[in-house]
Amino acid sequence: MNSVKINDIECNLLKSTAGNSGLDISEILKQNKSKFFDPGFAMTASCESKITYINGEQGLLAHRGYDIQDITANKTFLETMYLILKGDFPNQSELQNLIDIFNNIKVETELFQKIVSNIPKNSHPMSVLMTLSASFTALKSTKSKIEDSFVKSIDMIKNLLAMVCFTFRHHSGQEFQDLHKGDFDYTKYFISNAGINISEYGQSGIECLDKILTLHIDHGQNASTSTTRMIASSECNLYGSVTGAIASLWGFLHGGANEAVLSMLENIGSVENVDKFFQDVKDKKAKLMGFGHRVYKNYDPRAAALKKYAHNIISSDKKNSALLKIADLIEQKALNDEYFVSRKLFPNVDFYSGLVYKSFGIHKDLFTCIFAVSRVVGWCAHFDEANSQGIKIWRPGQVYTGETGKKI
Ligand code: SDX
Repeated sequence: MNSVKINDIECNLLKSTAGNSGLDISEILKQNKSKFFDPGFAMTASCESKITYINGEQGLLAHRGYDIQDITANKTFLETMYLILKGDFPNQSELQNLIDIFNNIKVETELFQKIVSNIPKNSHPMSVLMTLSASFTALKSTKSKIEDSFVKSIDMIKNLLAMVCFTFRHHSGQEFQDLHKGDFDYTKYFISNAGINISEYGQSGIECLDKILTLHIDHGQNASTSTTRMIASSECNLYGSVTGAIASLWGFLHGGANEAVLSMLENIGSVENVDKFFQDVKDKKAKLMGFGHRVYKNYDPRAAALKKYAHNIISSDKKNSALLKIADLIEQKALNDEYFVSRKLFPNVDFYSGLVYKSFGIHKDLFTCIFAVSRVVGWCAHFDEANSQGIKIWRPGQVYTGETGKKI
């Protein structure tokens, strides 16, 4: 821990290896009897982490030191899962060991079937997923505890993947069946058990989905991951922390944005209406969903990667060509419109992911569940990292501006 002097007050400095360092100004605040006022935590580092580095100005994203473009070009989702959880890519035997663990993890199908058959048919899939995750938490609090944190993470990840498949089947009114055969393959398990029919795209469809999952696997202290850490800080277990993270991911400003992008495109309806929609955005009557980011003040590197890998699928999708034309026109206009450029609003990962899922014939209500199938890996890794750093309960202060001294 280094330190710097500010107005003759010694402040501790946690030096980063890349990006912002952490300046502890508690001494200055104490002497000024103040709290650091930072609604939305835009200027607050809540923790130290070695998992993901984002440079918003340069549009860079790296997991455990590897650039996301290198990762998506050379590694599968399963290999990247190992990287996020363990700190580096697996060799052949480590990868086989991971597959063996997945093969041996029990999916709580009986519990999930019982729960899902009691959830109202028109429930939003993210509420179904939350319910299943809470039931899994209940079950885990009665069953023998898995001690090894890596195996526990895989247990959570595989069961959440199955929960999402149950949620997909619930949404289409079908029963869940485990159709996955042979050695465990994460993306193929998801495609077959969720009933996603992308056979027309063959292997390139499977590879595209695998890369999309890789692009969503972790993203530093985003709202749902910070929720995981917040809940973990009270010494709640992994399952409860993930259940809270699912709720946070649901929001339209976060993981729900991919669903909101499709609704936005459908509501705009045709390219002739884009100018009117832009005026509504500038009049603050609407938001341009899929644009803007708290950290990226440049192009979201995941959006660029997703656009590259999904281009063939989206562009060859004749069924949704009208939506694609609206999306292309929006991107073109926003990137050249002073209102958006001056606010550094660029397309984020959610602007394109929804278009691919739509081409895959997936209902937009289910889009955020796909985000969860991937981000659960990041939630588990941050849960473990928080626990390894020694748990200190998160308890931010506030600035009270209410009434005082009132008498009954
Ligand atoms: C994800 O954190 C992560 O890492 C998240 C994520 C991950 O992988 O976990 O990357 C995934 O959540 C991506 C973001 C998905 N959300 C959306 O696409 C929803 C639309 N975007 C916005 O709501 C917004 O851009 C946020 C929430 C993403 C970021 O908001 P900030 O950082 O709080 O920015 P702000 O609200 O302070 O905006 C600054 C200005 C404001 O205008 P002025 O008051 O200066 O006039 O930009 C405007 C905002 O009104 N603005 C937008 C806008 N986003 C910001 N105006 C129109 N449309 C938008 N989308």
